[in-house]
Amino acid sequence: GATRHYTFDVQMASVTRLCGTKSIVTVNGQFPGPEVFAREGDRVVVKVVNHVPYNVTVHWHGIRQLRSGWADGPAYVTQCPIQPGASYVYDFTITGQRGTLWWHAHISWLRATVYGPMVILPPAGVDYPFPAPDGGEVPVMLGEWWRNDTEAVIAQALQTGAGPNVSDAYTINGLPGPLYNCSAQDTFKLKVKPGKTYMLRLINAALNDELFFAVANHTLTIVDVDASYIKPVTVDTLIITPGQTANVLLTTLPTYPAGGAKFYMLARPYTTTAPGTFDNTTVAGIVEYEDDSSTSSGIGNNLPVLAPTVPAVNDTRFVANFASKLRSLASAEYPAAVPQEVDRRFFFTVGLGTHPCAVNGTCQGPNGSRFAASINNVSFVLPTTALLEAHFAGMSRGVYSTNFPAVPLMPFNYTGTPPNNTNVMNGTKLVVLPYGTNVELVMQDTSILGAESHPLHLHGFNFYVVGQGSGNFDPMKDPAKFNLVDPVERNTVGVPAGGWVAIRFRADNPGVWFMHCHLEVHLSWGLKMAWLVLDGSLPEQKLPPPPADLPKC
Ligand code: C2O
Repeated sequence: GATRHYTFDVQMASVTRLCGTKSIVTVNGQFPGPEVFAREGDRVVVKVVNHVPYNVTVHWHGIRQLRSGWADGPAYVTQCPIQPGASYVYDFTITGQRGTLWWHAHISWLRATVYGPMVILPPAGVDYPFPAPDGGEVPVMLGEWWRNDTEAVIAQALQTGAGPNVSDAYTINGLPGPLYNCSAQDTFKLKVKPGKTYMLRLINAALNDELFFAVANHTLTIVDVDASYIKPVTVDTLIITPGQTANVLLTTLPTYPAGGAKFYMLARPYTTTAPGTFDNTTVAGIVEYEDDSSTSSGIGNNLPVLAPTVPAVNDTRFVANFASKLRSLASAEYPAAVPQEVDRRFFFTVGLGTHPCAVNGTCQGPNGSRFAASINNVSFVLPTTALLEAHFAGMSRGVYSTNFPAVPLMPFNYTGTPPNNTNVMNGTKLVVLPYGTNVELVMQDTSILGAESHPLHLHGFNFYVVGQGSGNFDPMKDPAKFNLVDPVERNTVGVPAGGWVAIRFRADNPGVWFMHCHLEVHLSWGLKMAWLVLDGSLPEQKLPPPPADLPKC
């Protein structure tokens, strides 16, 4: 493959949205950030130079980072942050992946403005396993915009113990669109011709909301998710969680539409949380048919724009049904390597909880406590040095322990009435996996402080989603229904509100790999943990030493 060089100058820029101007952290002054383009098999080298008064790291979301864990990017997990004035070169090779992924800052809430698409084409000469989009390909990044400074928003939430202020708008490619005040000029427009197929490279880069996405009068055919081919699925509306990506074919109407030449594309939130705790607004973009008949100039300009209907904000049934439709392609050329045998089984509860306040009852979270979030009752605390460095140097003492619980410490009826004590413990606990371990992990949502879908993201691996269901996972009955033939392959999966999901992966990538809820506020509250995958015995099963420019804490 080729080597693709990029320079990311992290710098402040003034951006105006919703009639307000603020200074945001950007890459190269662009918002959203620049596209990283590569082909499968290419090496990507990105020099990140920090010109802002914040610590920064960049994560290449979904890139497997085979034996290149030093380039993964989560702050205090695989590296210390790049300090103001410093730089770091991320160097990795894209193996066995093609489709759409993305990159984003991975420290505090900087990813609110520091993100961009990664477009990965198949190797030269290799076609898509579906008809090539003859209209073209375009990134469609869904995001979230706050009028206030997002670092101040999360700082205030962590200080008071309350939930953070919700965003003021959703965005498509950074633009809020015509349904928000003074934003009509900030609308993403996709100009199309009749009778063509376009590929939308869809990315949910929002911080805190899963989103429905639809285009009026057009169906969407999903051909891959998380840079992994699936059996094509055609829908009116899709659901995409923060962290997830999808390539979606949109075929335009066969002739120039008489009844209207403009159609809205919409994104709206899906959540089961209470009104007021999420941004209940709608971003619209416009699919606009270009009029190529010179005689009828202006056609469609004054016609109403048609809007699609999307499911209700809390339509969990739609979401479960949608998830059950996704199957990996599992063809001879793109086989599904689902582990058929399992070496270790884990059962993790994921959900919210609380921490007591220093002075009892003085925080602004539930009942005078502060919000926390946990996996198996452990709210993960990042160390002040990087986990991967501590592991590599053999200096784990005082940095992390390896006793992350494989099952909950106190089992209860997870989807029934929660136990009285919802407190969670703090810890920096890892699970150690010998190289090549075949892992099965069931993640169970808990109803503590309310059932809620959590998009869990695993670094360093793709996993297979072998099962999902509502209610409590039943270890006697449910495994018999697992799909071990063509389960969808992903890096981020929604743990259903009031339900569970089962995944399998082979731990064939040495390093320390973060796993967390991709709702940024839950990440801030501790809904995260890390797997430590040990070196194997062969040279190609070992993590190389860190690069010389790895930042110091
Ligand atoms: Cu998209 Cu740990 O991140």
